Amino acid sequence: MSLITIGQVGQHVGQEVKIGCWLFNKRSSGKIQFLQLRDGSGFIQGVVVKAEVSEETWNQAKELTQESSLYITGIVRADDRAPSGYELTVTGVETIQIAQDYPISLKEHGVEFLMDHRHLWLRSPRQRAVMAVRSEIIRAVYEFFQENGFYKVDPPILTPTSAEGTTNLFHTKYFDEDAYLSQSGQLYMEATAMAMGRVFSFGPTFRAEKSKTRRHLIEFWMIEPEMAFVDHEENLRIQEKFVSHIVQSVLKNCKLELKTLERDTGKLDQVVGEFPRITYDDAIKLLQEKGSEIKWGDDFGAPDETMIAEHYNKPVFITHYPTEIKAFYMKPDPNRSDVVLCADLIAPEGYGEIIGGSQRIDDPELLEQRFKDHQLSEETYKWYLDLRHYGTVPHSGFGLGLERTVAWICGLEHVRETIPFPRLLNRLYP
Ligand code: 4AD
Ligand code: MG
Repeated sequence: MSLITIGQVGQHVGQEVKIGCWLFNKRSSGKIQFLQLRDGSGFIQGVVVKAEVSEETWNQAKELTQESSLYITGIVRADDRAPSGYELTVTGVETIQIAQDYPISLKEHGVEFLMDHRHLWLRSPRQRAVMAVRSEIIRAVYEFFQENGFYKVDPPILTPTSAEGTTNLFHTKYFDEDAYLSQSGQLYMEATAMAMGRVFSFGPTFRAEKSKTRRHLIEFWMIEPEMAFVDHEENLRIQEKFVSHIVQSVLKNCKLELKTLERDTGKLDQVVGEFPRITYDDAIKLLQEKGSEIKWGDDFGAPDETMIAEHYNKPVFITHYPTEIKAFYMKPDPNRSDVVLCADLIAPEGYGEIIGGSQRIDDPELLEQRFKDHQLSEETYKWYLDLRHYGTVPHSGFGLGLERTVAWICGLEHVRETIPFPRLLNRLYP
């Protein structure tokens, strides 16, 4: 008999099937054993009735321990009470391995213990659900860009320069030279946008963040579109459509996972259409009205972002930040050079900034001036300046942090659960 997955049982109701799986949990009432089985594609209960199976099958089922691996054969029954909608009437058990003393029991464990056993913790229903949502988000990202005329391009990971300031650069040696793991592919994406029009990248980025927060990883994955002939306004329009597409795809295709995660989906349903906007100036006033000590020119901390986001039930754009606190490449507002044409997108429910984006400087003289202001070596950025010398055009782009997006959509406390093997301050194992 050829194997099927638990996810496929719905196509085999009334038939006998064989599935490769692990035992997740077991209950027994003497004459019946209830096997909770998982195979990654889903969960199903296998019912073993003593009077209906051979003695050997009964005994094999009895010996199974948590995380034992096996092939199970049985007849698929539709069952409305089962979370997956199906149940298996077991006809045979073929044990692959009896697992001894699986370290993660079904009771509660501390976070550090679970993190040390991340390679096993991933098997739990919640963690599997998070990884399935992550996968769906990635699928929806590719779908959105393919439908909207973007090319996928891959910027380098080993770089001689910084894109997002020098404080959290991840240093390494490149033979005799110094190199840094990419903080952002943006500068290279700008070059490819001048070659291909609309491009996006999806890859790992690295920041040696010295602070321990719920939102910061050392290694995280970023999606970075870059678009020729797109201004600040259109950049925001594209972001609204993009984020709505991701959220709506997860709602549609990950119903069981969101249920496992006990996510209140009512709030996600509202993530459609236009998103609210507030300027940096007005955001400062709002915070001051609420009693904050913040003053114009300060950057927002996580509590500030949460306070602003509380005013809205959708993600909110904070636009026009002070030139001084943003990256060197952002284009100043033509009406006001002390602010830039940028926006951070703040997720609702306290999940913080999920996107940073801007229109880029297209004027070569101004860009050269910025290199001086930011003490960036003209030598290393010469190629980037070339983009403004040979057919410069208005262009914009943004970067979506995958892990923060997963945390928000899944409703997770901490980004450490959003990536299979998180790299955190003080954690490189497993
Ligand atoms: O705002 P950031 O630093 O923007 C850039 O890197 C731009 N070059 C993007 C662009 O315009 N192409 O980072 C973008 C996003 C943030 O909004 C956040 O979601 C995520 O990346 N991010 C992190 N996620 C997890 N851990 C960290 N340490 C992160 N740093 C940024
Ligand atoms: Mg940012």
